[in-house]
Amino acid sequence: MPTVNYIDPAGIQHEVEVPLGQSLMEGAVRDGIVGMLGECGGNLSCVTCHVYIDDAWFDRVGPALEGSLEEELLDNVSAERLPSSRLSCQIHIGAELDGVVVRVPPRQT
Ligand code: FES
Repeated sequence: MPTVNYIDPAGIQHEVEVPLGQSLMEGAVRDGIVGMLGECGGNLSCVTCHVYIDDAWFDRVGPALEGSLEEELLDNVSAERLPSSRLSCQIHIGAELDGVVVRVPPRQT
């Protein structure tokens, strides 16, 4: 099972196994990662699943698709929007993301 490294707002890294096909948001919420809310359950309406993708992984994960609802909603995140910002409910784990590192921002609301 792929492993995801979540870095919480305090800077503590949590290594979590996330089943293939599950989203980064689901893996974090299931494991109780501090700072990850995912209030809408992945329906693209809450933006409380904001994460920063680690620079070393960004090419593999990629940005939100231009013109997509995710891309539009990233304007509404509570913490600073960075070039590496994504909504983690829109990123589903595949084998190529084994070991991915994501940072949870200091606030979601
Ligand atoms: S969980 Fe609500 S937008 Fe991602």
